[in-house]
Amino acid sequence: MRDNGTPNGISEDITVIYFLRFSKSLCIPLLTLLISTIVTLPFQPGVAESNHPEFVGSYACKACHEKEYNSFLQYSKKARSFESIEKMRKGLTEEEIRKCYFCHTTGYGLTGGFISPEKTPHLKNAGCEVCHGPGGIHVKTRQRRDIKRHLTREDCARCHIAERVRAFRYRPLIHGGGH
Ligand code: HEC
Ligand code: HEC
Ligand code: HEC
Ligand code: HEC
Repeated sequence: MRDNGTPNGISEDITVIYFLRFSKSLCIPLLTLLISTIVTLPFQPGVAESNHPEFVGSYACKACHEKEYNSFLQYSKKARSFESIEKMRKGLTEEEIRKCYFCHTTGYGLTGGFISPEKTPHLKNAGCEVCHGPGGIHVKTRQRRDIKRHLTREDCARCHIAERVRAFRYRPLIHGGGH
């Protein structure tokens, strides 16, 4: 004969019911939260963008590197390289002019780089960052490791391409053209 009425039987039932309630009301939302966190983690903006420092323009370097800044502005043709495009603008199509931007401005086509003289006036000439790389992180941390220091000929050859070097009968020296 079964004895359903004992206090023991009742308390067992209650335990089971509580467990089921718990799992529905708490476990499922908790699991959902956990899974969604794991899935969306790689897409958090902070995580993704920290690897891409922005270009800040040569003027942003002046406060801490005044000597290099002044001599760059005075002696380097890069500091006025947008004028070279302007001089030849007549007769060129918009598409042809955009091709000049790759070498005559700072960071055209790259994250946080030159877009147009109106939108990004601070990047319209080829500045410090065409050689030293984007300075967005370095200007905040002031650390050497956050800026490119040791340059090779390949860094220059991106713009001083072989046919241009022949046409102008000149090879850039690694310490020329900067400051
Ligand atoms: C807020 C100040 C500050 C600004 C702005 C700044 N720098 Fe620096 N920079 C420093 C300091 C400080 C050091 C030296 C760090 C060290 O010795 O560890 C340094 C070091 C450097 C070095 C390496 C020098 C070496 O001895 O090898 C380069 C190259 C450089 N900066 C370029 C730039 C460029 C390009 C910009 C603009 C995009 C810039 N810096 C903006 C503070 C600044
Ligand atoms: C983003 C493209 C770019 C890179 C990278 C680049 N240059 Fe230039 N450079 C130019 C442009 C554009 C001019 C011409 C500016 C003008 O006259 O309008 C120029 C001009 C020069 C000149 C002519 C003289 C002067 O004082 O301006 C020298 C020298 C030079 N660069 C050296 C170098 C060296 C060395 C490197 C590598 C360490 C280098 N450049 C990297 C674009 C670049
Ligand atoms: C592949 C990179 C590159 C492209 C693209 C480029 N330039 Fe240049 N430009 C240079 C470099 C580097 C110099 C410096 C002289 C040299 O080649 O040694 C220069 C120099 C010049 C000069 C000055 C010449 C002098 O005698 O001082 C003018 C003007 C000029 N470019 C206009 C333009 C125009 C306009 C365009 C687009 C139609 C353009 N460049 C596209 C890299 C480039
Ligand atoms: C044409 C390429 C070029 C440009 C543009 C350029 N630099 Fe440099 N810079 C160099 C080279 C090359 C060195 C020497 C690195 C080495 O010793 O290996 C250097 C070194 C430096 C140093 C280290 C101190 C020193 O004199 O050795 C600082 C700071 C610096 N640059 C800041 C700047 C700033 C600020 C600008 C813009 C105003 C700028 N640079 C533009 C190529 C360039």
